[in-house]
Amino acid sequence: MELQAVVDEIVHEVQPMLGEGAVASYIPSLGQVPAGNFGMCVAMSDGPVCGAGQWQDPFSIQSISKVFSLALVMSYDYDSIWKRVFREPSGTPFNSMLQLEADNGIPRNPFINAGALVVTDRLLTLTGDAAGSVRGLLRKESGNPAIDFDDEVAASEAQHGHRNYAMAHLLASYGNLENPVELVLENYFKQCSLRMSCEDLAAASRFLARHGVSAGGTPFLSPNQSKRINAVMLTCGTYDAAGEFAYRVGLPGKSGVGGGIVAIVPGRCAVTVWGPALGPNGNSVAGIAALDAFTTRTGWSIF
Ligand code: DON
Repeated sequence: MELQAVVDEIVHEVQPMLGEGAVASYIPSLGQVPAGNFGMCVAMSDGPVCGAGQWQDPFSIQSISKVFSLALVMSYDYDSIWKRVFREPSGTPFNSMLQLEADNGIPRNPFINAGALVVTDRLLTLTGDAAGSVRGLLRKESGNPAIDFDDEVAASEAQHGHRNYAMAHLLASYGNLENPVELVLENYFKQCSLRMSCEDLAAASRFLARHGVSAGGTPFLSPNQSKRINAVMLTCGTYDAAGEFAYRVGLPGKSGVGGGIVAIVPGRCAVTVWGPALGPNGNSVAGIAALDAFTTRTGWSIF
């Protein structure tokens, strides 16, 4: 199988779908990205990389950053985070607060916004600079020192972030934040605003395809921790569409409202796609179609 040809074909195939769905506009800065953009990259765990379309154009990684903040927290503090956040699929949208009160301030999982706020809070305690730590990890693992925050996107989200503010205050009311609400949100909006290309993101995610081994060849996570993060990505990484994603793609995956998705084939590669038009659950329509075609063609699903 010629992997570059597979990726080229898939990017060609999804072109007619690029208008389907809608670009996220609840963060006004994100709403300006053209819906017709699309890129895809595969980074093999042993080094080779191939890509097609706009795979080298940076975009806002948004909720994909939640994978890296969780990985950092687990790298410092093996599993104490699980006292403050569950690891069950929520079956609700990424920004829902419905279950948070019923569950006494313990979010259902670390990838819905409420859970990610708790993880960012923990990382802030552990490092003093949660967003900076996420940026540092991404720079190191991707080998791209130019990866940075998009201050306009972060400010735009802060201005329109009523729901995240409400969620953070509710968490604080249950004693499930260690740091001031403002500081946690500032770090959360910054980590979400990081701009990366499919190429950067595939390279940076490769440690999850290498059982925790970092780009430098040393263990960043243990194989067990890497397995656990992949498991949570599979069950919770695409919110109330996690069942549909597992059915169609059959891989651990994490999406963001910037239109990016990272999927991991453990032991083999990291795959990234980017198409800004989203379906009703906040996941890239063309991105899911491309990943579906990828696992169908290659047979590289975990099932
Ligand atoms: O908190 C938010 O609403 C955004 N910064 C991130 C949301 C997101 O990417 C959800 N993913 N599909």
